[in-house]
Amino acid sequence: MFIDTHCHLSVEDYEDIDLVIKENIEAGVSKIIVSGCEEKTIVEAIELSKKYDCVYVTIGYHPDQVDNVNDELLDKLREQLNNPKVVGIGEIGLDYYWVKDNKDKQIELFEKQLKIAEELNMPVVIHSREATQDTIDTLKKYKVIGDIHCFSGSIEVAKIYISMGYKLGIGGVVTFKNSNLYKVVEEVGVENIILETDAPYLTPVPFRGKKNSSKYIPYIAKKIGEILDISVEEVGEITSKNASQLFDLD
Ligand code: NI
Repeated sequence: MFIDTHCHLSVEDYEDIDLVIKENIEAGVSKIIVSGCEEKTIVEAIELSKKYDCVYVTIGYHPDQVDNVNDELLDKLREQLNNPKVVGIGEIGLDYYWVKDNKDKQIELFEKQLKIAEELNMPVVIHSREATQDTIDTLKKYKVIGDIHCFSGSIEVAKIYISMGYKLGIGGVVTFKNSNLYKVVEEVGVENIILETDAPYLTPVPFRGKKNSSKYIPYIAKKIGEILDISVEEVGEITSKNASQLFDLD
């Protein structure tokens, strides 16, 4: 049994969502957490969670939405977070890769959402790109725990996040030949990891070039099992337990 803790499932990317869900279940991926991170995909993700038992949702405004979000939308987000299938806030965070000249605005939006997470006692899903130090400094101001989505940092950074109560989201990148992520996996072990695809992006080997899907989660688990010399079943079991606890899925 596997849980995909982070994917984007939208009619914009997938023609037949019924088929995607069916294929996930056939592949042993029993639960998926769909991330809605802009106004439209938040609504869409919540609708999917009503239609499919296996779909859970995290919602929150991605840093690339910084110019689109106002207080009204954040009030609406609070209401949307009341839905029982919404299990976390995210992906939220900081992204200095594309735009660097709006750091203050990004941090402001990030903090507003961390405040909501703290108040509602909900886990957060963190997007951090080329912004490690600011991400850590900002997170330290709030009593929250969560998931570092698509973790790609050093062993040292991994240990900081883990000490703050975070799990590392590991996905297709770990299967890439040029990735050093295996060193982090080796060091932190399966008890600090949750599985994710970030579908439709970051398709694992041997399917690179194809559109990603939660059904490929077992290939990520297999790679982690090889790195840690444990069975794919054990990877599935422990990472599912980690995810269930973090997002309170049961
Ligand atoms: Ni994502």
